[in-house]
Amino acid sequence: MRQKVTVVGSGNVGASTALRLADRELADVVMTDILEGIPQGKGLDILEAGPVVGSDSRVLGTNDYKDTANSDIVVVTAGFPRQPGMSRDDLLMKNYDVLKATTEKVVQYSPNCILIIVTNPLDAMCQVALRVSGFPKHRVIGMAGVLDSARFRTFIAQELNVSVENVTAFVLGGHGDEMVPLVRYSQVAGIPLTELLNAETLARIVQRTRKGGGEIVNLLKAGSAFYAPSAAIVEMVEAILKDKKKILPCAAYLEGEYGIQGLYVGVPCKLGARGIEQIMEVKLADDERAALQKSASAVRELVEVIKV
Ligand code: LAC
Repeated sequence: MRQKVTVVGSGNVGASTALRLADRELADVVMTDILEGIPQGKGLDILEAGPVVGSDSRVLGTNDYKDTANSDIVVVTAGFPRQPGMSRDDLLMKNYDVLKATTEKVVQYSPNCILIIVTNPLDAMCQVALRVSGFPKHRVIGMAGVLDSARFRTFIAQELNVSVENVTAFVLGGHGDEMVPLVRYSQVAGIPLTELLNAETLARIVQRTRKGGGEIVNLLKAGSAFYAPSAAIVEMVEAILKDKKKILPCAAYLEGEYGIQGLYVGVPCKLGARGIEQIMEVKLADDERAALQKSASAVRELVEVIKV
């Protein structure tokens, strides 16, 4: 049976996600937005690429949530993007309203879906979607860690002039400037990173990773990243649709794991058909644990402002 993925938002992140899903024939795709004509136009354009790329994915752009009914996965990208000088957190109040309205409509038509949240500030928006949907926590997942880890891996591969495929890395914590790139658990073809790069270089790469989203915003001047974010979303969607049991860093609702209670924070998760099937708890050194707690505190501050 064909699987169905809805993408809410037809901006750069939403449309790039729809395109990647259709290109790879992973599912039928519905793209929805409140803007009239944009989802329809981009959706039709993506559909018309099908004969060329050899994809029979059905792609539909719409303003009507009825068309999203019975989706297996709903990816929420809707919201205001970051502008230069604006932190992810400045977006908090504006996107809270967007997330609330969107989640209500999504669950009305797809009560059994898995929600992947992309809208910033990411961790707080996940918490909004969890509360508003009433879904169990394993069906509300945030996309950030795959993107942040991809940036970390890119910079490591560039520094060493090796294939990106050789580099495995984890970034934990909230999707903000306090995120925690875990150097100790990062490897190049099985070789610990600390054997290959000196402390100064590592610190520079960690810092660039933390500011990776802002680096793109400053270059683009208007809007934020979308190619790497959409690639990261699609890796998560594929892991779920194919029940791959793939371990990826995702924003997950923690209830005691890593000593954190009642909060979305990025941690390694096993993704399969049920969504988050397991949260992997790895041992952290004291400084890593402290950094994760600091990152979690930044998320908690936001969550307390919007009281979710
Ligand atoms: C980024 C923004 C989208 O990390 O949060 O690119």
